[in-house]
Amino acid sequence: MTQNGSLVDELQRLEAQALTAVEEAASADALEEVRITFLGRKEGRISGILRRVGELEPEERPRVGAEANRIKSRLQEALDQRQAALEQASRSDSGELDLTLPGRRGWQGGRHPVTRVVDELVEIFRGLGFTRARGPEAETEWYNFEALNTPLDHPAADEQDTLYLKGGHLLRSHTSPVQVRVMEKHEPPIRVLAPGMVYRRDSYDATHTPGFAQLEGLAVDEGITFVDLKATLAEFARRYWGPGTRVRFRPSFFPFTEPSAEVDVKRVVRRADGTEEETDWLEIMGAGMVDPAVLEAAGIDPERYTGFAFGMGPGRIGLLKYGIPDLRLYLDNDIRFLQQFSDR
Ligand code: PHE
Repeated sequence: MTQNGSLVDELQRLEAQALTAVEEAASADALEEVRITFLGRKEGRISGILRRVGELEPEERPRVGAEANRIKSRLQEALDQRQAALEQASRSDSGELDLTLPGRRGWQGGRHPVTRVVDELVEIFRGLGFTRARGPEAETEWYNFEALNTPLDHPAADEQDTLYLKGGHLLRSHTSPVQVRVMEKHEPPIRVLAPGMVYRRDSYDATHTPGFAQLEGLAVDEGITFVDLKATLAEFARRYWGPGTRVRFRPSFFPFTEPSAEVDVKRVVRRADGTEEETDWLEIMGAGMVDPAVLEAAGIDPERYTGFAFGMGPGRIGLLKYGIPDLRLYLDNDIRFLQQFSDR
């Protein structure tokens, strides 16, 4: 009786084990271990069987040898393939697919909270007949000051602590220059709203930032009076904050309006227990009748036309609306803050 049959059987069992081990090897190291275990010259399990060939009848030895060689080359092929597959997987970013991972969601942006407030304000004033106007952020002294009845040595020009650019331009310190640009281009009746960024040399703290948004309003026509200004702003306040909102005008001064006023609102808020309460007066804007000198500088006949103008800070209105404690949050671009105002 020979052991030929049983050695071939053993080799074939080893082949099956080795192929399974190759498939299961999850790294190059694991694969190298499989190679050593089965194909290693000294300790390898196939070499171990071949060492026993000497026990066989001489004429039976070639068959076992041939079978061993077939298995070695098959195994080497499987090892090469597996190694290539592992290398490819580690090269691609995703690595091996893990189908149990949650899917990645697409990135969805949202409007900045100040942009949301601007859009809401523009929408309300659109209902009152105002359209949107724009002007440049880099302005000349003429539009930012002089055409607005503010000589360069006037304290108001200084007070705004302007940021000057090379070449005689400056970063506009308010949106009022858009008034002049609109009046130069258009005949009355004019009703425009100009939102935009303005810049001042200012501190950077909870209530001041060197750049912030403003929203300018301008109406020019025959026969416009302070009553139109009061009625327009009172109507705006009721539409924005609710019908119980009260508006107060306090005398003030701006070089480009006469008379001028600071406008305050008192809102009605609902308490947690359902009862209602009036807030304190809150200053929300500057306003007034367009100074005749400004109409004239912009080429509009002050004998025929009058107008009113107002300017407010949508950022401050947003603080109130969303309970935001610090103006700097608008400029930090912290996604955790901004995401709370995403549209969905
Ligand atoms: N431009 C003024 C400011 O920046 C606001 C204002 C606008 C006042 C229009 C009156 C009329 O403070």
